[in-house]
Amino acid sequence: MSNDTIIDVKSVSKEFGGLRAVSDCSLSVKRGSITGLIGPNGAGKTTLFNLVAGALVPDSGEIIFGGEDIAGLRPHALFAKGILRTFQIAHEFSHMTALENLMVVPSGQPGENLATNWFRPGAVAGIEHDVRIKALDVIEFLKLGHVRDELAGNLSGGQKKLLELGRTMMVDASLVLLDEVAAGVNRTLLKDLAANIVRMNKELGYTFFVIEHDMDLIGELCDPVIVMAEGAVIAEGTMDEIRANPAIVEAYFGTPVEVG
Ligand SMILES: Nc1ncnc2c1ncn2[C@@H]1O[C@H](COP(=O)(O)OP(=O)(O)OP(=O)(O)O)[C@@H](O)[C@H]1O
Ligand SMILES: [Mg+2]
Repeated sequence: MSNDTIIDVKSVSKEFGGLRAVSDCSLSVKRGSITGLIGPNGAGKTTLFNLVAGALVPDSGEIIFGGEDIAGLRPHALFAKGILRTFQIAHEFSHMTALENLMVVPSGQPGENLATNWFRPGAVAGIEHDVRIKALDVIEFLKLGHVRDELAGNLSGGQKKLLELGRTMMVDASLVLLDEVAAGVNRTLLKDLAANIVRMNKELGYTFFVIEHDMDLIGELCDPVIVMAEGAVIAEGTMDEIRANPAIVEAYFGTPVEVG
């Protein structure tokens, strides 16, 4: 694995009751890239993300991150290492404001620890102050200042997506996995979302691994793009290269028109 590889998936397989969702799959993501992952429904993309983020344990294979095989580590352990996937704002957070939603992201700071909380309240207050300042920075970065004190449940679908992205900025993420984050987001907010992903990549050094069905968005955002089908990688290249390969397009996406 070269130094500029952030994650190296090596011959990973995962079966669900005889169905090989991910089948001897190997791929790597370059540090500092926005890498796309596309493929037909049921190709195994989400399963692969779940394996990388620790929600599932592979049957076989290795997932190398920072020189270590992280396959099978639990999500909180991977979160602490900076591997994050976004989740929809959970129901129980919808009655908290946008700002508060950022402030409750577990940070691995002593404030989370009950014992420290109990015995050293002064230390926690100091940390909370820092967390609030960080959350305000994130709100500003995402241009969500006008809805800062709005309940998360009242935000629009696209604003919620921005907030989900913002939650990854509250910790020192190095690899962020986005699974169809643009689904259901209108064109204008989609542009904001894409612009923020690019800014987080360029200005803050985040690496993104992005599953998307919107080929225009993938083409705009991602280089390279990895194509999965039936649990394994069938191609990798720029979106233009993939679009220009009629065999891939026809075999896995129906007609070239759908991808172009
Ligand atoms: N928990 C599960 N139990 C059983 N089968 C599953 C489970 N999760 C996924 N599968 C199956 O594994 C295969 C791959 O599913 P996966 O969700 O990874 O596909 P995907 O590429 O993300 O598809 P989509 O583009 O539709 O989201 C599918 O056949 C799916 O039905
Ligand atoms: Mg999926």
